[in-house]
Amino acid sequence: MTTSTASGKIILFGEHAVVYGRPAIAAPVSQLRATAAITDAPAGSGCVLFAQDIGEEVHLSTAAADHPLALALRLALEEAGIEKEPNWRIVLTSDISIASGLGSGAAISAALVRAALTHAGQPARPETVSRLVFRSEEYFHGTPSGIDNTVIAYERPVWFVKGQPPERFGVGHPFTLAIADSGLPSPTKETVGDVRRGWEADPAEYESRFSRVADIVHGARRAIRDGNFVAIGQLMNINQQQLEAIGVSSPALEKLIAAARGAGARGAKLSGGGRGGNVIALVDDKSAAAVEGALRAAGAKGVILTTISHR
Ligand code: PMV
Repeated sequence: MTTSTASGKIILFGEHAVVYGRPAIAAPVSQLRATAAITDAPAGSGCVLFAQDIGEEVHLSTAAADHPLALALRLALEEAGIEKEPNWRIVLTSDISIASGLGSGAAISAALVRAALTHAGQPARPETVSRLVFRSEEYFHGTPSGIDNTVIAYERPVWFVKGQPPERFGVGHPFTLAIADSGLPSPTKETVGDVRRGWEADPAEYESRFSRVADIVHGARRAIRDGNFVAIGQLMNINQQQLEAIGVSSPALEKLIAAARGAGARGAKLSGGGRGGNVIALVDDKSAAAVEGALRAAGAKGVILTTISHR
């Protein structure tokens, strides 16, 4: 049996502007994982995927060309040079909530691609996994920047610019983020489409906002390198202002953000596509419990803490 896993992810700075060539910073959330387990099945049984959390059974031979799991698997088999459908039983599980901006889709695809390459006796290099997951995401999301597949495939904090290999960045002092799930679905495709329409209507305004976001992301890189928590928090807050200005925030997210700041978080912002999904808040040992409580009281469906450090 081959078992592979992949982590969830958060975007710390620069979502949306990253689609327009500006840098962004993202990190894995290693305690949230998707898992793919492959066992050989008797000859003639073909390749069957069981997506346990959603109760779906997918037969590779009959799955539609655009079925997301079948597509990721076909890409992996093609990469491994396997032309004939193998007799595999594949079980997929995940503890990353779906459509919450934590990268559940990319994580399941990454776990599946990793397991398939490994089971086929091929190396599952991060750059290969990232490329294949990107191709499967591209099919569904139109114009993804590639940040989700990159951070998940490399499973380390990344400085990301579209079309370039990910860079590492220095972390002067580890810092902790509370991640709060609004419980509202995060329609990334919709928010990315709305931003696109806004940009088309007023390119100068949007380009200037994206350039301000780029300055924020560069500032955040320096603040993270220096372990300057005050600056990291302030930059999160001003990144949030820009996200509000381009119309991807929502009252529910802003309620969570205000609750976190009010309980002592040094900064807070939405993370990912926006409207729904998650917010992140910068906490320390003293504020973590109060911020977590305030987020829950303000309606968060779940709160987890993750620490960003050098790996
Ligand atoms: O909603 P998520 O976490 O998948 O974030 C998408 C990030 C965007 O910048 C909004 C889109 C992209 O492709 O980079």
